[in-house]
Amino acid sequence: MKASWILALVAATPMALALGQESSADGADLVTRAAVKKRVLTFDCDRMPEVCHNMCFATNCKHKPKQLTWDKPRSSVEGKRRRTAGCGSNNRCSQKKLGKKGFNCDEYPFASSKQADRGGQINRCVPERENSRQGSALNQFYHSRGKYRATGCKSKKNCSFTVAFKGSKTKTIGPCKKTPNCKNDGNQWTKTGPVRRDEIEEPQQPATVVEYKLRRSGDTILASDDLQPGDLVYHIVERNATLAEEQHSGHVFNEFAGVEQYDYMNDNMDMEEDEILERI
Ligand SMILES: *[C@@H]1O[C@H](CO)[C@@H](O)[C@H](O)[C@H]1NC(C)=O
Ligand SMILES: *[C@@H]1O[C@H](CO)[C@@H](O)[C@H](O)[C@H]1NC(C)=O
Repeated sequence: MKASWILALVAATPMALALGQESSADGADLVTRAAVKKRVLTFDCDRMPEVCHNMCFATNCKHKPKQLTWDKPRSSVEGKRRRTAGCGSNNRCSQKKLGKKGFNCDEYPFASSKQADRGGQINRCVPERENSRQGSALNQFYHSRGKYRATGCKSKKNCSFTVAFKGSKTKTIGPCKKTPNCKNDGNQWTKTGPVRRDEIEEPQQPATVVEYKLRRSGDTILASDDLQPGDLVYHIVERNATLAEEQHSGHVFNEFAGVEQYDYMNDNMDMEEDEILERI
């Protein structure tokens, strides 16, 4: 108990704050932070391996923030963020540029998060239905829909959450592994072109990826954020998998709308809550 208390305080030092957590640095605030549970949103890498690849590459290899803040942006703001990510109209993943159809430009940090305003987002061409699964999961979490609707972001802006990964495929996706493989497979870009290994600002070492066991389900997740026992973990569960597949494969992404474009899928999705039990 005492050790975890000290760890929590260490995690809230100004250096950790500079790495993407927002807060003022006065003492009282630090003590409050130590008691606040983090919210963790998991992405099912069995169902969205390409989307996971992008998120893992960005967080584990390029040190993009793994804790994001949903600021409930207007769609014009989201549109601007997509453009700075290289994912605006007629992006490289469009049928015209890519030469094949069925792909969307996926970006991290998400256009729905404040961290996207820093620029330098990582993008990847991913199957449309994976992009749809990711967007609908965020929508469910931001607006606290489905089971456990008293939790998540409750439609309130400035809601911070950590991204994490679940599913048996996770450990087979290079940049998601416990020892991340950070070689660019050619599909990791920024607005200016393919991400190179030798970029000047690039830190040398991949992030430390930790496996955590969950209390209720006994499942494990991978995350590169420092999580503590009791931190809340949310999964999106599809009620009727056949219907979900139909919806996601039929969804036409609207680049001028936010995550609310997935509202019609809400009734087929539940958000379930679990919590961190321990590090493995
Ligand atoms: C959200 O955060 C922004 C920027 O940090 C701040 O200006 C705004 O007042 C906050 N809004 C709410 C509702 O907390
Ligand atoms: C699940 O969805 C499919 C496709 O819409 C539908 O045909 C089927 O009846 C649904 N199953 C249940 C148990 O509701």
